[in-house]
Amino acid sequence: MARSSRRSPTWPLSLLSIVLLLFFVSPAVMVKHHDFKRCDQSGFCKRNRALADNVLERGSPESSPYQVDSASIKYKDGQLDASIVKNIGGGNQVKLPLTITFLDRGNVRVTIDEDKRRKGQIELRHGSVARKERYNEVGAWALTGAGLQAQKAAYMKRKEYTEVTWGPEGQYKAVIQHSPFGVEFWTGEEKQVVFNGRGFLNVEHWRSKVDKPQRDENSTEPEPPEPVEDESTWWEESFGGNTDSKPKGPESVALDISFTGYGHVFGLAEHAGPLSLKETRGGEGNYDQPYRMYNSDIFEYELDSPMTLYGSIPFMQAHKKDSTVGVFWLNAAETWVDITKSKHDTNPLTLGLTGGIVDTHTHWISESGLLDVFVMLGPNPKELSKSYGKLTGYTAMPATFAIAYHQCRWNYVSDEDVKDVDRKFDKFNIPYDVIWLDIEYTNDKQYFTWDPLNFPDPISMEKQLEETDRKLVVIIDPHIKNKEGYHVVDELKSKNLAVKNKDNNIFEGWCWPGSSHWIDAFNPAARAWWKSLFSYDRFKGTQSNVWLWNDMNEPSVFNGPEITMPRDNIHHGNWEHRDVHNLNGMTFHNATYHALLERKKGETPRRPFVLTRSFYAGSQRSAAMWTGDNQANWEHLAASIPMILNQGVSGFPFAGADVGGFFGNPSKELQTRWYQAGAFYPFMRGHAHIDTRRREPYMLGEPYTSIMTKALRLRYSLLPAWYTAFHEASTEGYPIVRSQYFVHPGDEKGFAVDDQMYLGSTGLLVKPVTNEGGESVDVYVADEENYYDYFDFTIYSGKPQRTHTISTPLDKLPLLMQGGHIFPRKDRPRKSSGLMKWDPYTLVIVLDKKGEKAEGTLYADDGETFDYQLGAYIHRKFLFADGKLISTDIGTKGSKTINYLKTMKDVRVEKIIVVNAPAAWSSAGEVAVTEDGVKGTRNVEMIYHAATAGKAARAVVRDPATAIGVDWTISFPEASQSGVKTEL
Ligand SMILES: *[C@@H]1O[C@H](CO)[C@@H](O)[C@H](O)[C@H]1NC(C)=O
Ligand SMILES: *[C@@H]1O[C@H](CO)[C@@H](O)[C@H](O)[C@H]1NC(C)=O
Repeated sequence: MARSSRRSPTWPLSLLSIVLLLFFVSPAVMVKHHDFKRCDQSGFCKRNRALADNVLERGSPESSPYQVDSASIKYKDGQLDASIVKNIGGGNQVKLPLTITFLDRGNVRVTIDEDKRRKGQIELRHGSVARKERYNEVGAWALTGAGLQAQKAAYMKRKEYTEVTWGPEGQYKAVIQHSPFGVEFWTGEEKQVVFNGRGFLNVEHWRSKVDKPQRDENSTEPEPPEPVEDESTWWEESFGGNTDSKPKGPESVALDISFTGYGHVFGLAEHAGPLSLKETRGGEGNYDQPYRMYNSDIFEYELDSPMTLYGSIPFMQAHKKDSTVGVFWLNAAETWVDITKSKHDTNPLTLGLTGGIVDTHTHWISESGLLDVFVMLGPNPKELSKSYGKLTGYTAMPATFAIAYHQCRWNYVSDEDVKDVDRKFDKFNIPYDVIWLDIEYTNDKQYFTWDPLNFPDPISMEKQLEETDRKLVVIIDPHIKNKEGYHVVDELKSKNLAVKNKDNNIFEGWCWPGSSHWIDAFNPAARAWWKSLFSYDRFKGTQSNVWLWNDMNEPSVFNGPEITMPRDNIHHGNWEHRDVHNLNGMTFHNATYHALLERKKGETPRRPFVLTRSFYAGSQRSAAMWTGDNQANWEHLAASIPMILNQGVSGFPFAGADVGGFFGNPSKELQTRWYQAGAFYPFMRGHAHIDTRRREPYMLGEPYTSIMTKALRLRYSLLPAWYTAFHEASTEGYPIVRSQYFVHPGDEKGFAVDDQMYLGSTGLLVKPVTNEGGESVDVYVADEENYYDYFDFTIYSGKPQRTHTISTPLDKLPLLMQGGHIFPRKDRPRKSSGLMKWDPYTLVIVLDKKGEKAEGTLYADDGETFDYQLGAYIHRKFLFADGKLISTDIGTKGSKTINYLKTMKDVRVEKIIVVNAPAAWSSAGEVAVTEDGVKGTRNVEMIYHAATAGKAARAVVRDPATAIGVDWTISFPEASQSGVKTEL
């Protein structure tokens, strides 16, 4: 679901009219801009932009009032501590503790705090109970490790600067300038990243509010000077009829970070715009607003926009030819990021000829909290993804069903309806794994209950799904209906586990159930209680094939400022909501994840599935995400590709967009194209708004149903390749679907290409059709390898930086195979992925241009439990070279390896397809198979299909019957023999 459509027909009329009165100022059809702030409507954003403008106008970055007190600098074991002094005029100074830690992998962490707040030497206004410190716990939620501190760093202090070099061969260097404070980060001889080079550093220190004396209107005294700073938004701020009491006064932190020589920046999920982030300070084709990160329930979001969406990951990668660096801004308060680019030329002689080198300048602005930022010196997209994964955790390895097809709509109206849809999928031979229930399954929007009229027998529904190993996902949101006698709210209140308002009383707001309270998942006691609610005997009507969907967890509060909680609300530990806002969604979906781990004592823990709408850095450890409430139009289909690619860049790659589009009715053509594209989303779910027509794939009729079924079958047959890609994400941090710059970091022409995707390391390159009547697509190919059409083996011959046009009638999905790869499939059509568990494999060997080499991997495990952590998995490398295909073990043995391999001993390779097979094989007819543990060599039939006009030759080995879990070698005929023959 979810949508915060305040025009939803399911709303009681009385509530609707209240809402209309309160908020419905204009009957906008698109995103309600007036519900959400622009930078100039956000006090701290406006103040920091003004500061930046001011410094730029004066051209005086060196006037930045921050200086390192050089006497204070202490250095030990890879950590530098010092005080920054902020000169605030009149000879007054503010002390800001600075810590810089030098870490492994070329990472550095820079933290700036504020002495007075840290020591609690401030007074809060309005009798607030909030904590006085700057929020310093983001790391406790987001980080799994901060990296090892470099022991062997070299430290050198001079009068004007301090220099630290670290890393292998001292290749990384930080130069800390004392006055004004600034840092340059170098790799070898190259300056990469600069802090405060433009002088926008700003830590709004605590001050007490001085009320201006009332001025006698007849006074002859001279007018006091206008304050230099705009104080109008320091003490309280109103927006859309809500007033923020701001008990801590102004407290923003901001810093300019420049990437020297870098022309592209990526990341900052979640926004609906191009992968290569745009400039935000106006000008042709640019935005005039900074990228905003303030998790929000945005109704009917607009495309190509820096507006905030449901989740935030303040991680950015800067990329230039063969080099990538990153920054990770560890702050969970509202954050804005301005981006500008400038050209400079290093060589005056080439002025105007080379076009100069582009620098990218960013300006990060957060409302509160510490200034806490990691710099990551790369050096390439893979290393950066890995570093970020080491900091914030890797993607959780999902259960197999989670990466199969999900069927959802708001709403399947009854248990009979669900059973009927389930039967229809089978009747039409369409595979699916999971059917979903949106909010209407509940009794009156009370989670953990069932609507007694429409869902009288949920267990029998779940049992029917179980017959084909299918699952049910139900929605549970963080708002708890405020209704006497509802056991969940009664417990929430009596145990005191809800979020509080600014007066420290239970916070009450409106959401789907009407008046509601919100669980405070920052509180360990609340998470423990949440866990108890999911046990089978408490959440009646659920059994082990039921999993979860967490929506509205930004949190969405219909009558709150910007449709969320007031910033002065109070969470566990007395932290203000403003400090933790962007973490809120993650703490909630993580609480659900942990609840699902222990539904029953003694039950073998299985990998929970939780879908979340809101997220933060670290969410990848416990959830999948979707891009929220999109629309059934071509533009939204196209926008989904860069959004999903960006999730990969941002370290949360288990991502999808509602297939078909949430709002509105897609045309049959659009829906069909969407299934073709969706088959390449890491998370694939069809979903639809309650007002839309039924659109399960079988509803559309021919040829659409067949084409969509074909797309789904393709997804299912490639599940072993997807699973392997997920495994790479879960161990290396790599994106699951990969953008052009990630795969070809040296190809400048491809850096901004964001409408085609590579699936993991398979070499599969997909370019979905995203326009109406699209008769062809242009696929950009960066490298010299040959690419082959997945379905008909058409050769797209390798010339670098070339665009190939592929004709795309409706039943054509443009999918290419890059030479040099091997990927696994399972080709037997089944009803669900669970039923494919013991199916044999097909291996596709796509030989390189010379017809000599290819390689790939396979990861497999039980698809369900955590036994893989004890070695119960198969991890194989397939290498084709010198005429031999060799399968070798690349796993690490554990206590459960042997038993697992026993269960897999009959799972075999039933087919090998070799694309671009040498002509010499045409007369051979056989390959020789040797297998570990099997005596002798077997000859197995190979059928050769010669190349035809424009199409690659291929050879098919029929049933080599080698076990998937053991070492084996298949010897193909000598390719050179024929060469010799023709020479003779
Ligand atoms: C200011 O001066 C005017 C005119 O002399 C007088 O009417 C008014 O009361 C004075 N206001 C105050 C606050 O003294
Ligand atoms: C997730 O939940 C576990 C168990 O309650 C807790 O230890 C951990 O801190 C939570 N992490 C996040 C990111 O919420």
